[in-house]
Amino acid sequence: MTTLPQLIGCSNATREVLEEIDCAAGSDAKVLITGESGVGKEVVAHLIHHRSRRRQANLIAINCAGVPDTLLASELFGHVRGSFTDAYRDKQGWLEQAHRGTIFMDEVGEMSLQMQALLLRFLESGEIQRVGAERSTTVVDVRIIAATNRRLLDQVAASEFRSDLFYRLNVIHIEIPPLRARRDDIPPLLEYFRRQFSERYRVEPPCFSDEAMAQLMAAPWPGNVRQLRNVIERLVVRAHREMITTADLPREVLSMAAPAKGSTVPHGHCVVDELFGRMVRQGETFWTVVYDPFMARDLTRDDLRALIREGLSQTRGGYKAVAALFNVPSDHKRLLSFLRKHECHLPDQDPPAALARDAGSQKSPRAVGE
Ligand SMILES: Nc1ncnc2c1ncn2[C@@H]1O[C@H](COP(=O)(O)OP(=O)(O)OP(=O)(O)O)[C@@H](O)[C@H]1O
Ligand SMILES: [Mg+2]
Repeated sequence: MTTLPQLIGCSNATREVLEEIDCAAGSDAKVLITGESGVGKEVVAHLIHHRSRRRQANLIAINCAGVPDTLLASELFGHVRGSFTDAYRDKQGWLEQAHRGTIFMDEVGEMSLQMQALLLRFLESGEIQRVGAERSTTVVDVRIIAATNRRLLDQVAASEFRSDLFYRLNVIHIEIPPLRARRDDIPPLLEYFRRQFSERYRVEPPCFSDEAMAQLMAAPWPGNVRQLRNVIERLVVRAHREMITTADLPREVLSMAAPAKGSTVPHGHCVVDELFGRMVRQGETFWTVVYDPFMARDLTRDDLRALIREGLSQTRGGYKAVAALFNVPSDHKRLLSFLRKHECHLPDQDPPAALARDAGSQKSPRAVGE
């Protein structure tokens, strides 16, 4: 990215992410950015660096998944001449290049256990030793921002990611919700990309009919902002008329928009009953019915607690049974960590209560960051 990217959006979720960026920019603490592919993790990393006191120094962005393990160590730490066949001269690694600046380690969940051990050693000492160097070490001052679209806690549970490394990286955690959980961002993003691509391709910015706009708003966008950007780019390039109608929308958007099921969250006293019914009777998953709207602050903690209480009461069991009831049977650990993180974890054997009924009348104003 040559120019500084912008984080466009007006949803509560995006506003909160912007606040977290400013907060992170004010310190040197390590940051872990999580979220699905295409939600804007790299944009957030750039903004943190460029708003921090390190902005004059380099931001080195690396994709841990894109570099073979054998090369990653020498790229990160550098190497000395002769340390391997193609090492014709000493080479500075990315960490040295990022001295006084920031290193952004994307897809950190893809690192091998061996690389994780090397990274951990660096995080503990701040020292780097170039590959092939006998003894000499250099101390570098680098801020680490890591990102992943994997669930690192699941990887920790499966012994694929070191827990000590996870806790070292996870000092400030910024979670970016998927686009479908913050639909208020769609119109400003659309406007931003429409103008950006019209300027780039030197064409008149097209308008969107109300129906086309409704389709774009209703689509679930599994590829998130990146997918929306690509669709708008294609529409701008191909626009034959001033007005884009549903007939002009790519098939991927039309077929995506068809099942509007789950796209909105009802409000009022029956919210908990309705969401519970969607999972238990209609087979939708906890992540779609509860997690997404909760992260978008459309659901309160009281709602979430009431749903869990109802689940525990109906299954008369623990969280494994609740995960199965909520159609996420292999995700019970993730469910637990999510509930703990948001202080909505309840004791397993909570007595059945009619709390589900009460939830609507006890709404707290915001689900996260209360
Ligand atoms: N809020 C936003 N405002 C403007 N552009 C955005 C926003 N979020 C994402 N983008 C754009 O969408 C594209 C994808 O964003 P980015 O590369 O930051 O996603 P990511 O979360 O890092 O994805 P991946 O997990 O695949 O690496 C980029 O072109 C980025 O500029
Ligand atoms: Mg990325």
